[in-house]
Amino acid sequence: MTDASAKDDNPLRQNLPRARVPDPCAIVLFGATGDLTHRKLAPALFHLASQGHMPADYAIVGFARRDWTDDRFRSELKTTLAKDSGPDFEHAWKRIEPHVAFSSGQFDDPAAYFDLKRKLEQLDSSHGTMGNRLFYLAVAPEFFSMIVENLGRAGLIHSSQKETPWSRVVIEKPFGHDLESARELNRDVAAVLDESQVYRIDHYLGKETVQNIQALRFGNAIFEPIWNRLHVSSVQITVAEEVGMAGGRGSYYDKSGAIRDMLQNHMMQLLCLVAMEPPANLGGDAVRNEKVKVLDSLPKWTAEDVAKYTVRARYTKGSIQGAEAPGYLEEKGVAANSKTDTYVAMRLTLENWRWAGVPFYFRTGKRLPKRASEIAIQFREPPARLFEHDSEGSGGANLLVLRIQPNEGASLAFLAKVPGSRRRLQEVRMDFRYGTAFAVPTPEAYERLLLDVMLGDPSLFTRTDAVESAWRFVDVILDAWSDPKFPIYEYTSGTWGPEEADQLLARDGARWRRL
Ligand code: BG6
Repeated sequence: MTDASAKDDNPLRQNLPRARVPDPCAIVLFGATGDLTHRKLAPALFHLASQGHMPADYAIVGFARRDWTDDRFRSELKTTLAKDSGPDFEHAWKRIEPHVAFSSGQFDDPAAYFDLKRKLEQLDSSHGTMGNRLFYLAVAPEFFSMIVENLGRAGLIHSSQKETPWSRVVIEKPFGHDLESARELNRDVAAVLDESQVYRIDHYLGKETVQNIQALRFGNAIFEPIWNRLHVSSVQITVAEEVGMAGGRGSYYDKSGAIRDMLQNHMMQLLCLVAMEPPANLGGDAVRNEKVKVLDSLPKWTAEDVAKYTVRARYTKGSIQGAEAPGYLEEKGVAANSKTDTYVAMRLTLENWRWAGVPFYFRTGKRLPKRASEIAIQFREPPARLFEHDSEGSGGANLLVLRIQPNEGASLAFLAKVPGSRRRLQEVRMDFRYGTAFAVPTPEAYERLLLDVMLGDPSLFTRTDAVESAWRFVDVILDAWSDPKFPIYEYTSGTWGPEEADQLLARDGARWRRL
């Protein structure tokens, strides 16, 4: 057995959290009556609590505009949580219920923050939360700066110089609308908080399969030597969704589009994990330093490059798995003359030694035939072809596919000899599936991320320089797209995007993987 208290001299492990037991704390949910709280945050906290991952002393405080009491908030949460619960729900809820409280207030009302402060001080006495505060901003982005400023004014943010009591603020996406607004938000946040107190969340980083990219690359020795331009011929990153504008998202999405909603954040983070150099250790800064270097090596495009290497499109009426789907322009909340992209395809090369010249292809879209996210690493062909090949297209090259969702896992394709007298090869696969390899359910991304904030582990959160660097690249695309002459193509709902996206790859003699 390992003695957890024994001194560990291995420098690779020095920045790792030892015991994953958080300090007592109060978790304040801004936007407590909203969709994110009910769909993701409350269930995540509930699971953490029922699995014993919450600290012994904690409080969950909802803060929202509605004039609710503690009891009303408890009963709303209970109704939400009961929907997907098992037979032990009542028992688990009874233990958690006394930890739940509510503080009503308008986000722009300074007095409401003083009420909140009083409530938190009471909870420090009654629930032993010791002054530690986690503020989660599950609100529309226009409220981020206002809430942070008011938290500061009401004295709700402790100095970052002392280890305890601590204050941490989680900021949801979108973090800015473009580079300028992201910088402005960073300035507002920095006026009140130290960077170490800010947790910019990208829920993709909480996904087990996304974290497994690092494990695969840096926990094994066999991949790293071939993980570069000498052995990799291209990389395809796909995040496909079946959903359209469900849940009244049209008006938000119409101001955002696929590029801001998926590419600037989730897909850029996937790129970082695939393309980064090995970090010195897995501590927050070591990993994030390497990630930002990837973003800094994104190409410096001109408007002509944007025209050549990006394709934007929107879906039209069609059907997905037998069900009719409306066109994007018919969706609720979408402007009749909208030019918003529901699909982006892009080809880029990174300007660094490891990846120079290797095309990275990205595609993401709504209302595609199915939900499927993956990263496919295509390796080069052997220098000489000695065998006959059966498999069309692969030409004898190996392919490593990291499946993010669904069917989480990874598979490596290689050629094997078909039994018989001929020297004939056929593609076969080695397949790893989370579902069968580990007999434990995969935790929800938000559970892992909330736990990390309570533990003060920022490694899975986006640092200010990374946010700005990703925007710097995306801004050039947005600028070029703002030209009224820039085309927006169409694809029928339930298809894999417009023809122009196929042509983007065809120019390299490549094609999108069939998922
Ligand atoms: C969100 C986007 O960040 O991610 C949504 O705003 C998208 O538009 C969602 O549907 C996808 O997340 P997941 O975890 O379902 O892949």
